[in-house]
Amino acid sequence: MEHVDLRIAELASSAFAASGSETGSLPAGATELAVTADRQERHAAIVEAVLAGNAIAIPFAKFNDGRGFSLARLLRSEHGFRGEIRATGHVIPDQALHLLRSGFDTAEISDADKLPHWQQALSSYSGNYQMAARNPLALRRQAALKQSAESRAADLGKQLAATGDLAERIHIIAKAVPGRLSFSTSLGKEDQAILHAIHEAGVEADIFTLDTHKHFKETLATLKRSEEHYGLKIRVITPNEDDLRELMARDGEDGFRTSVAGRKACCMIRKVLPLNRTLRGSAGWITGLRREQSAERAAVEFASWDASLGLFKVNPLSDWTEEQLEAYVSDNNVPVNPLHAEGYVSIGCEPCTRAIAPGEDPRAGRWWWENMDGKECGLHIGGERQLDKVA
Ligand code: ADX
Ligand code: SF4
Repeated sequence: MEHVDLRIAELASSAFAASGSETGSLPAGATELAVTADRQERHAAIVEAVLAGNAIAIPFAKFNDGRGFSLARLLRSEHGFRGEIRATGHVIPDQALHLLRSGFDTAEISDADKLPHWQQALSSYSGNYQMAARNPLALRRQAALKQSAESRAADLGKQLAATGDLAERIHIIAKAVPGRLSFSTSLGKEDQAILHAIHEAGVEADIFTLDTHKHFKETLATLKRSEEHYGLKIRVITPNEDDLRELMARDGEDGFRTSVAGRKACCMIRKVLPLNRTLRGSAGWITGLRREQSAERAAVEFASWDASLGLFKVNPLSDWTEEQLEAYVSDNNVPVNPLHAEGYVSIGCEPCTRAIAPGEDPRAGRWWWENMDGKECGLHIGGERQLDKVA
């Protein structure tokens, strides 16, 4: 069965073979989710799809059944699912734009010869499909918004580059971001420096940490110590219990060790999905990413428009060297995780982090049993997989 990629209006090459289902067209390898699914079933489907590296397929028994659209919307907005959502069964080219703006990426088509009809239906979208995509005025407004978001991010980047003072950078960010400002902290050295600067700048931010239930006790102690030291609250975000149960049932407690897919699924459920949920409604997201940390991060910008999350992602330490960071932390008596002094440079979950030897790559101690390339948990790469969502 062919399927059309709604984002580019082209046939997508499918790794899935037809296997048959109630709608007669479920692709094998996609996780099917019924339009009647309740919250628990939605969670289960996300976990299954993530574990297997699948798309979630939502079957349409009749083309005029609107429940599939609502379901896709829920997967995106309520659960923060960022993988592929595919419409299967009875969908028609007239629905292409509606599918796209409801969160679908692809739609199954019974006959590749029908592709021109889908392309025709999608042609009015012209690269920007969110919100009232059929309305040309709304489309123009959306395009303008996106452009303005990108140029505002570029401006913000320039302003940040113009000063090396971290507290001033935080001030600049707070002024530029038009709404709730979130700061995700792993309690690592970079994030402790940012926490200090937020406190010094007196800026209001939603400061949160993602507790994977796998942290070092030293990390949790650093959290408490920081709250006391700065007299502020760090929100502790935990993974969804249903997601965790599913993960354990499928992969067991140590599934992250058996394959890269298992490891990514664990990171997805313990970190990425909770992050997506937490950032919903935020206008800006501050992180401690630095270019020096790895080859993958070498191009990290001060500020960018994260189209997938619909917010400004800001990395106020992006240009800092390890020496600058060390100096800042020691000059300002910033409380840091005691594990740093024992050779732990980048600190994540206990079972997936080890100390490194002098001269080793800074991220060599993360998931050390995997190849060096692409050692990311998904917190900072999910956004690029999706097309623009300027809402
Ligand atoms: S990771 O993607 O490999 O885990 P890393 O540990 O380098 O990331 O941290 C980079 C940034 O991601 C941090 O500065 C922080 O903003 C965010 N981050 C990472 N882990 C967490 C966590 N557990 N809770 C909140 N934010 C986190
Ligand atoms: Fe799971 Fe390890 Fe990722 Fe933590 S770092 S969420 S334990 S795979």
